[in-house]
Amino acid sequence: MEPTQPAPATSNISVRRGEPLVVVEHVDKHFGDLHVLNDIDTVVNRGEVVVVIGPSGSGKSTLCRAINRLETIDSGTIMIDGEKLPEEGAALAKLRADVGMVFQSFNLFAHKTVLENVTLAPIRVKRRSRKEADAKAMEILDRVGVANQAKKMPAQLSGGQQQRVAIARSLAMNPKLILMDEPTSALDPEMINEVLDVMIGLAKDGMTMIVVTHEMGFARKAADRVLFMADGRIVEEATPAQFFDHPESDRAKDFLSKILEH
Ligand SMILES: Nc1ncnc2c1ncn2[C@@H]1O[C@H](COP(=O)(O)OP(=O)(O)OP(=O)(O)O)[C@@H](O)[C@H]1O
Ligand SMILES: [Mg+2]
Repeated sequence: MEPTQPAPATSNISVRRGEPLVVVEHVDKHFGDLHVLNDIDTVVNRGEVVVVIGPSGSGKSTLCRAINRLETIDSGTIMIDGEKLPEEGAALAKLRADVGMVFQSFNLFAHKTVLENVTLAPIRVKRRSRKEADAKAMEILDRVGVANQAKKMPAQLSGGQQQRVAIARSLAMNPKLILMDEPTSALDPEMINEVLDVMIGLAKDGMTMIVVTHEMGFARKAADRVLFMADGRIVEEATPAQFFDHPESDRAKDFLSKILEH
């Protein structure tokens, strides 16, 4: 057995680092003739932070969506916590509760308050009482620094605040894993850091995260591993230092030279 690591006092995440949480084996997916995921193999261990990077159209979002079963795959297997991804029904609902997802465009419910956005799934899916769900939600909103916005509607918040609410919403389900697909790409520059700080905090608390991002500062600070994708394949898999300082493939060198120009 792996040793059990106590969660930090500030966190409700209990972590047993080291064992595989997400196992992706020989995964293929096509959209028509386009081979969007080409023999993808990777393992994400509990407590690990994996950054996925690569050119537009390389399959990063499709991989995230496949892990949450928002997309089906043609062949191969994806296991989460020892279980194959369910196809439908109650098991799929449970998977969605265990795997949080944060999108570029926040996707908050526009007609619900910040607090209601965070409590909706715990009340509906986990059958929490409103009182219990409210208390937990306020704790989490406080952790991401927006507790004072709880009664507002999403449109009354800045982009950075909305994205922190979206992160709070996934944390409220106590997920085993959080997938983030370019969580800071839609934000004005001055709001990027407040979201990255929350993400770095989660990483430090031991949350398992798969994050599609071109934020190299985040990758260097928080990632255990970088996956570089191109044309539906994982072309390189390395530590951030190895990858950013000594990329091996021409594809990665070319990609990094382009994003470093900015
Ligand atoms: N629903 C769909 N139907 C058809 N083609 C799709 C669909 N979704 C994605 N694709 C195509 O699959 C390829 C991979 O898309 P994906 O969104 O995974 O790339 P990405 O690496 O996330 O790109 P970006 O950096 O632009 O977000 C792209 O060529 C895209 O046009
Ligand atoms: Mg994408």
